[in-house]
Amino acid sequence: MSVQVLLVAGARPNYMKVAPIYWAVRENRALPLRLELLHTGQHYDESMSGSFFRDLDLPEPSINLGVGSGSHAAQTAKVMTGFEQVLLEKRPHVVVVVGDVNSTAACALVTAKIQLDGVGRLGRPLLVHVEAGLRSRDRRMPEEVNRVVTDAISDALFTTCRDATPNLIAEGIPEERIRFVGNPMIDSLRRTLAAAEGSTLLDDLGLRGRAFGLCTLHRPSNVDVPEILEMLLDALAEIAADVPVVLPLHPRTRQRIEQFGLGERVAVLRRPVRQAPRRGIVGLEPLSYVEMLQALRATQFVLTDSGGIQEETTALGVPCVTLRENTERPVTVLEGTNVLAPLERRAIPAALDDARRKVAGGVRIPELWDGRAGERIATALAELVEG
Ligand code: UD1
Repeated sequence: MSVQVLLVAGARPNYMKVAPIYWAVRENRALPLRLELLHTGQHYDESMSGSFFRDLDLPEPSINLGVGSGSHAAQTAKVMTGFEQVLLEKRPHVVVVVGDVNSTAACALVTAKIQLDGVGRLGRPLLVHVEAGLRSRDRRMPEEVNRVVTDAISDALFTTCRDATPNLIAEGIPEERIRFVGNPMIDSLRRTLAAAEGSTLLDDLGLRGRAFGLCTLHRPSNVDVPEILEMLLDALAEIAADVPVVLPLHPRTRQRIEQFGLGERVAVLRRPVRQAPRRGIVGLEPLSYVEMLQALRATQFVLTDSGGIQEETTALGVPCVTLRENTERPVTVLEGTNVLAPLERRAIPAALDDARRKVAGGVRIPELWDGRAGERIATALAELVEG
């Protein structure tokens, strides 16, 4: 019997987590799995979605719920009603959700509560969460709420690092549901690095072979408050006094920069540029995945409030300052290249010095960030249903 698996992606940081699962099933025909890809449409712009599917060699998802943007409640509700219809129609044996975005929690809630007579031993699909057990312990973060909710109701919890297990056990999750599989984002990173070399980004910016830094900012807590966004841009300008700092702009960040009258601080360059920037903040449209990897590999340092980039910099040995007071990915601080910066102007350049010193002193790639997490997940999925 082949097991029907519905694999859910919703937003930009999800794609590089679903891709390795998709590849592993596609490349191992002996596995008794039939996999279907669903996109909730939480992210929908070409630059936030379509380009990633191509870069990651993923097919167009066969189902797209087309939910788009909205308040947290409206977006979550739209995903839930759309996803319920899909489950009623498709009756999959397993639903796999990844990460911590609104789409993750919404699809998890629907899967855990639906009644589908005759489907599996629970009368509903098994719910699997990939990247379970990460905790920032900051419930002001919508992603933390999504993580806690999703983990609490998942039947199987696949983790990317050892510290996730005690986090889950402390919340009452039975240990037998937890499985340490490694980090699928690193599978995507490794597999796509060669293609990234072919990207035109660095040539377009005149930065090939030159020193530069890279920054990403999109978290509402950083960009929705004018004083904080201004302080971050000030700190960035100080760092960019010596070396150009490339700042690809998430749609939210770009909107806020304009809305708060900070547009003069960040010129958004059109590619290719006539003259290579020698210093200053270099605003750009969002980068595709291969462009981002090319930039990450060549940059001297990164400043970010992203979750995934903390992991990618650790895997690549690039000094990283995380512009947040906490992280759900402490392994990147304890073993990797990451340093947290308090949200104060002076603390940020100091944190960058710390991160550079840390990398010079030697760092480690965390356990099972080895490019084979997708294979382990696919095997575990097959065992789950057989067992
Ligand atoms: C979401 C995730 C966040 C992740 C981020 C990566 C949640 C709670 N948050 O945040 O964890 O780090 O994605 O990007 O799910 N927009 C567009 N085009 C798009 C998508 C969004 O212009 O294709 C704009 C819209 O103005 C929208 C805003 O971005 O209102 C925010 O999008 P949304 O999906 O609500 O959250 P993100 O901030 O992207």
